[in-house]
Amino acid sequence: MQVVRTIPALQDVLSPLRQAGKKIGLVPTMGALHAGHASLVARSVEENDVTVVSVFVNPTQFNDATDLERYPRTPEADEALLRELGADLVFEPTVEAMYPEPDTRQFHYDGVMDVMEGPRRPGHFNGVCQVVSKLFAAVEPDRAYFGEKDFQQIAVIRAMAKELFPALEIVPCPIVREADGLALSSRNTLLSADERKLATNISRILFFSRAYARNHSLEETRNFVVDTLNSLEGFEVEYFEIVDGCSLQSLPDWEVTNDIVGCITVYCGAKRVRLIDNVRYK
Ligand code: PAF
Repeated sequence: MQVVRTIPALQDVLSPLRQAGKKIGLVPTMGALHAGHASLVARSVEENDVTVVSVFVNPTQFNDATDLERYPRTPEADEALLRELGADLVFEPTVEAMYPEPDTRQFHYDGVMDVMEGPRRPGHFNGVCQVVSKLFAAVEPDRAYFGEKDFQQIAVIRAMAKELFPALEIVPCPIVREADGLALSSRNTLLSADERKLATNISRILFFSRAYARNHSLEETRNFVVDTLNSLEGFEVEYFEIVDGCSLQSLPDWEVTNDIVGCITVYCGAKRVRLIDNVRYK
């Protein structure tokens, strides 16, 4: 496994492989890798000749300086895990290598960018599109792998790729969970032991709400999830939207479509760690 830190070095390694007709898989990450990332890398290794993993905490997608500062960084452990998983190339650039000049590009994809995370994290998806489009342009992958925990992010990246990289296949991969159901996230390590125990209620209530939904309206189900989680000490639901899985628009009732996903963001504990999760109803 090779580790490179600049775009020219990355392209030096990849050009001959691409010319030789090798299929390239890309797994973009911000490091602090866990079993969720490992599942993406393993899938890429299985489906491609060459797997590139980028490890870069992208400053342009953070709209909160404290969040950027405390984002966990574990480069040695990340490299060890990636070696074990069979990744071929790790791209670990500095901020200067990724942004030699400020990136002033503005991305806007109506609908998918205007809901849920969009208005609550102004600039976040623009930053995601900036970095991911730079990675797509530098790596020129055949396939790129993203976890479904960031359900809205996949919809935004799909829209961006459709416009700028139409030949690229975006591969969504299922959420990986702890044994107690908590969706794996690099942010989970920021929770205290007691908060971590309480956090298991996020997925527990979401899963329970699928049964609840069978004899309750969409509005009642939404309120049930929000009220139950808000009643937990130190927990505050930022939003819980039950949406069309493709357009991400909120739905009035269960009958409108057969593609329905509930997306939630919860602030947890003293440090208000922001955790997201989602559940499919149909
Ligand atoms: O999902 C993430 O970890 C990031 O948003 C991504 C896609 C690696 C872009 O920085």
